[in-house]
Amino acid sequence: MDHVKIFDTTLRDGEQSPGCTMTRDEKLAVARQLVRLKVDIIEAGFPAASDGDWEAVNMIARELGTDDGPVICGLARAVKDDIDACWTAVQAAKKPRIHVFLSTSDIHITYQLRSTRPEVLTLARTMVRYARSLCADVEFSPMDAGRTDPAFLHEVVAAAIQEGATTLNIPDTVGYLTPEEYGQMIAGLRREVPGADTIILSTHCHDDLGMAVANSLAGVRAGARQVECTINGIGERAGNASLEEIVMALHTRRDLFDVQSQVETTQLAPASRLLSTTIGMAVPPNKAVVGDNAFAHESGIHQDGMLKNRETYEIMRPQTVGLDGSLIVLGKHSGRHAFRSRLEALGYHIADTEVSQLFERFKELADKKKLLDERDIEALVHDAAERPVQIYHLEHVQVSCGTGAIPTATVRLRGPDGTARTDSGQGTGPIDAVYQAINRVVGRPNELIEFAVNAITEGVDAVGEVTVRIQEEARKTAPGKQPNSAGKHSRPQVYSGYGVNLDIIVAAAEAYTAALNKMLGAQEDRERAHRNATAVAYERDVALYSVDLFGNSSLGRTTTGAEG
Ligand code: KIV
Ligand code: ZN
Repeated sequence: MDHVKIFDTTLRDGEQSPGCTMTRDEKLAVARQLVRLKVDIIEAGFPAASDGDWEAVNMIARELGTDDGPVICGLARAVKDDIDACWTAVQAAKKPRIHVFLSTSDIHITYQLRSTRPEVLTLARTMVRYARSLCADVEFSPMDAGRTDPAFLHEVVAAAIQEGATTLNIPDTVGYLTPEEYGQMIAGLRREVPGADTIILSTHCHDDLGMAVANSLAGVRAGARQVECTINGIGERAGNASLEEIVMALHTRRDLFDVQSQVETTQLAPASRLLSTTIGMAVPPNKAVVGDNAFAHESGIHQDGMLKNRETYEIMRPQTVGLDGSLIVLGKHSGRHAFRSRLEALGYHIADTEVSQLFERFKELADKKKLLDERDIEALVHDAAERPVQIYHLEHVQVSCGTGAIPTATVRLRGPDGTARTDSGQGTGPIDAVYQAINRVVGRPNELIEFAVNAITEGVDAVGEVTVRIQEEARKTAPGKQPNSAGKHSRPQVYSGYGVNLDIIVAAAEAYTAALNKMLGAQEDRERAHRNATAVAYERDVALYSVDLFGNSSLGRTTTGAEG
């Protein structure tokens, strides 16, 4: 069977969508899981977009770009400086790739690039040639290919092949096409473009009309041998094609597709959970493959069928996607060694010092709860992953509430200078009271825009997980700078936090503190960047990128504080 490459863009297209921003360490943790998943290519970011992006891509290239690891790819506009930034970030990987993109539809050429078809053709040629002079593996994307005149698309693709591009990615950037149309576009390129049989054609579909997965699969049927996708389908607007759905469709219907991916399917559910807790974006219960209800059988008729033969209502086994839910025999008498082996069996390779800290927390939990299953352990690991950004450390929470009482909370937090501060607050409920008290200590304006609480396991002693998202106040346009093209100030950033505890009030306090720590960390980074003359010059470049290529503020990233 033919091999289909899975190109994961969770850390690039996924991460650039609202509320999905990740810190460098979070990106590295997600990238590690992508290695366990055995994806062929990790698009680790957009190195020219910010110093932080460059550092994250470079770190992933250095740490995970091994001989037997995935290709590490970075995105670049068809601009020499972007390509240089991309190359310096990825070249440490054993298998580096530069991904150059340039719009080819008339609407993008006229209104965004303010250019012409001949200029775009020349630029595509020059920049692919330049990227190829640095790196043997170059991917080229004619952006908005789905709405590009087919004759011009063929011309640009042929030119990119002549200049040495090794993968031609065909984006339906705005999610406009139907599966039939997308399949025909790929078939047309294979049939009519000289040299198309010497390169890999790739799909890149957005989900604006809910057809991203179907379109990508139609592309595979028509001969594409790389699929670009993201975990949980995150990405610009309605998202990208969902990796888990693509992989399981290819796996379950291999009779039809006659191709195979090398993805380790049992790592799909852990990958979905890791991403969801990292960015604080819950997976809908009815989400295909990884949703809570994807393997739940409720109606009597279905349950009856399942008991007689599971294939009556199940086309995939939950174990195949890593949802075996088996109880692990770990409790309060388990030793450090058993705990570490279990972590390794779950795919976590954690340094000794961190294992010791996790083990302490595990013991605390096991003291209160008899049996721990793997979901509890995963929650502990993800909770610990939030902790590197520890500007404020939550030491104490106490709440008083009840019928007829005004919910009141007292909290103690240790601040960045090492001193502990205690304060109290009142609220409409106990959690509101805790958040008021924390706000009095931290004193940075923010708005709570999402709060979700979930019992990870079953029963009254279930471990509770809380995910929050907060939004910082919109920043004012810097003196001397114009508001962006839409006449607006920069879009406020969203930060997520995750907390896990048997006591959901404590979990809620931890989640809020984690989100505040991320916000404060990002604000500090921005302030540092503003003090640095090079960073200021660089921000101007990012601002140009926002205006020129994405046109409006809702698409402009503000990673280093660019005012779009
Ligand atoms: O959707 C798109 O066109 C993209 C390109 C940058 C590949 O993400
Ligand atoms: Zn995209």
